[in-house]
Amino acid sequence: MIEWQQLGGHFGAICPTQTDVMAIPAEEVKQALASHQLLVFPGQRLSTDDFERFAAGLGEPAEYPYAAPLAGSRYLVPIIKEAADQHNFGGAWHTDTSYLEHPPAVTLLLAREVPASGGDTLFADMYQAFERLSPGLRHCLSQLDGINTSALVHAAVGDYASVAGDAGAAGAATQATARHPAVRRHPVTGRAALYVSLVHTERFSGMTRAESLPLLNYLQAQATRADNCVRVHWAPGTLAIWDNRCLQHLPLNDYPGQRREMHRIILAGEKPLGSRPS
Ligand code: SIN
Repeated sequence: MIEWQQLGGHFGAICPTQTDVMAIPAEEVKQALASHQLLVFPGQRLSTDDFERFAAGLGEPAEYPYAAPLAGSRYLVPIIKEAADQHNFGGAWHTDTSYLEHPPAVTLLLAREVPASGGDTLFADMYQAFERLSPGLRHCLSQLDGINTSALVHAAVGDYASVAGDAGAAGAATQATARHPAVRRHPVTGRAALYVSLVHTERFSGMTRAESLPLLNYLQAQATRADNCVRVHWAPGTLAIWDNRCLQHLPLNDYPGQRREMHRIILAGEKPLGSRPS
């Protein structure tokens, strides 16, 4: 059994160095992910094939419609910021692709090349973000759905339009919208987690964007308070696995003039379930 070390105050865990992730039973990784939400495995020496095999042991790899996969692969997407690039991919707090009907449950990210300093990724706990709200606001949010759209980021005028390789910037054909509960019940742990973000949730159902924005801004600020966050520092070979159903993340863009290359695989997820009692 792995002796996990706590990564942050209340979530996230790091595996002892020298542990080969390929040797850990998938069931143990899945259980640890349910308990800790975010797992970090330093110093992995994984080929592309190893990485794909490991990911497939944890769930069903899914295609990502907004960036081209690595040549010869269907699921492994390189996320690269070149030294000359200004913007980074995913450079705002979000949970992955919540504008799809079935958003990915889990993301695996493997660092291949990292800047000499900077380029860390922050994670925020969306269970605690919800639990810290007042009973009145929790009740109100539990009755609402979020209308999530890819257009806020992946469009000709979206936030990622200038990110190299962003396919959504090419046109509206790949735009997606999905209505999901603003508070989702995690299918494994049964816990309720806030499931809206400023960059993907356009508005609440039955409300205008102007009416929704003040509440979305408030929730985003509460969710990403420093005492609700954990920071992952990358070195080449660091692998992180996180649960999109109960976390948001933010890759920091604080390494101008340096290159960063990560390899990402997402695992298919279910249609989010609400937390309203049935
Ligand atoms: C992502 O948002 O999936 C990328 C995270 C990162 O580059 O650290």
